[in-house]
Amino acid sequence: MFSLFKKKYEPRPIFAALGTDMHCHLVPKVDDGSKCDEESIECLQTLSAVGYKRVIITPHFQHPRFPNQEDDITRRYEDLKKHVNEAGVDIELVGIGGEYRIDSGFAPRLENPRFLQIGGKYVLVEFSLHQQMMGCDEMIFDMQMKGYEVILAHPERYPYLNVNGLRMEQLKNQGVFFQTNVLSLGGFYGEEAKHRAVEMIERGWVEFMGTDTHNTMYAQALSDLSRNKKVEKLLEKHQFLNNTL
Ligand SMILES: [Fe+2]
Repeated sequence: MFSLFKKKYEPRPIFAALGTDMHCHLVPKVDDGSKCDEESIECLQTLSAVGYKRVIITPHFQHPRFPNQEDDITRRYEDLKKHVNEAGVDIELVGIGGEYRIDSGFAPRLENPRFLQIGGKYVLVEFSLHQQMMGCDEMIFDMQMKGYEVILAHPERYPYLNVNGLRMEQLKNQGVFFQTNVLSLGGFYGEEAKHRAVEMIERGWVEFMGTDTHNTMYAQALSDLSRNKKVEKLLEKHQFLNNTL
């Protein structure tokens, strides 16, 4: 009854210039993201409504919490892709990557690397949200020596990484690409993450933007964010590499 009177806003396609979302958790039941195909399809419909044309899905690879295997994830991705096509969603699934947590369980992956890559050469990695892990830089260097381009997921979300601190600058100097979450720009992860995200973009340190969509709550937040003129202007002012994927 009340919904009749509730003002409903249509999402706006403010992410059209980005073209490709390269960070989300929409392979069902493999991590803390989508729980079923229907939820993934609903999220993809929202991604389409806010302007995305292509999506690369990046499930968590984190030992032992999400003990995913690359071949199994690829199979599940292909199944989802089939269902998304059948549902007629106006968005294309163009690839399967991973979000690899660099922690104590990461080192063995370097011995026999099977990383699911984004755009044929990038590997998306994340750090712990709570504490800095010793030896991260060495592991990233090792990946780079093996020929991978490394993208760090949402650097604005690590409270121990200060925009003005040396460590962030070192990562940039080391050739690490940065991916910021679009939802950070609307304060979804708090004011500090928002300020760090804006500052990093203004400094030209961010090469990729990702939605990090996990479920319909994130999709709703994206839809709300699509009406934010400030965010729209900020994205218009800067160039990103999403379209190259
Ligand atoms: Fe993520």
